[in-house]
Amino acid sequence: MPELVLTVEGQPLRVPAGISVLAALQGAAHWSLRRSLSGQRRGALCGMGTCFECRARVDGVLVRTCLIPVQPGMTVELLE
Ligand code: FES
Repeated sequence: MPELVLTVEGQPLRVPAGISVLAALQGAAHWSLRRSLSGQRRGALCGMGTCFECRARVDGVLVRTCLIPVQPGMTVELLE
């Protein structure tokens, strides 16, 4: 399977092409992607764009990572 490289929190991450950004993050053990207003860690729930718990910045834009396929050279910043 072809692979590509993302940058996650400043570190290179090699992932299979064709997966979602969320799958790439979870494959690298990034289970908590953001914090609630009260400071609790939050992780993805639905995997289909409904819960909004998988939000992160991808190339500077706030997105639901479960809906975005990985692309070579993407930069991902978590909201923790
Ligand atoms: S995991 Fe629920 S919107 Fe992405």
